[in-house]
Amino acid sequence: MSAIPICSSAALVEGGDGVRFPVAMRDGQTVGFVVRFQGVPRGYLNRCAHVGIELDWQHGKFFDGSRLYLMCSTHGAIYAPDSGRCAGGPCRGQSLRVVAVEEHDDTIFWLPDQQVFAPQASTPPIS
Ligand code: FES
Repeated sequence: MSAIPICSSAALVEGGDGVRFPVAMRDGQTVGFVVRFQGVPRGYLNRCAHVGIELDWQHGKFFDGSRLYLMCSTHGAIYAPDSGRCAGGPCRGQSLRVVAVEEHDDTIFWLPDQQVFAPQASTPPIS
């Protein structure tokens, strides 16, 4: 499956706001996100391992105050940005679902796989 552009490389600042992008799964349309951490784009499904809702309290606000962890706004689960593994809070032993991303030609792309793929216009949102 071919890479899908998300944003320009310049839009993704180290430890700064993430960029959300639409994805689809078997049960409907949902959201992925990408952040830059240690110079590299890191992509995940925007779905907390605790309850399965979006992490960001405002769109794109994924990092905690230290800029070292991704934090869920609902109950405070924190995740390692480089692996998506739970680093504290109610997500213990779980991880964010990785969405493969790559960077080239001054652009960030995501890579669909068997479970997370490009939404079609007719894909309903997951409620
Ligand atoms: S829903 Fe994310 S910590 Fe509870």
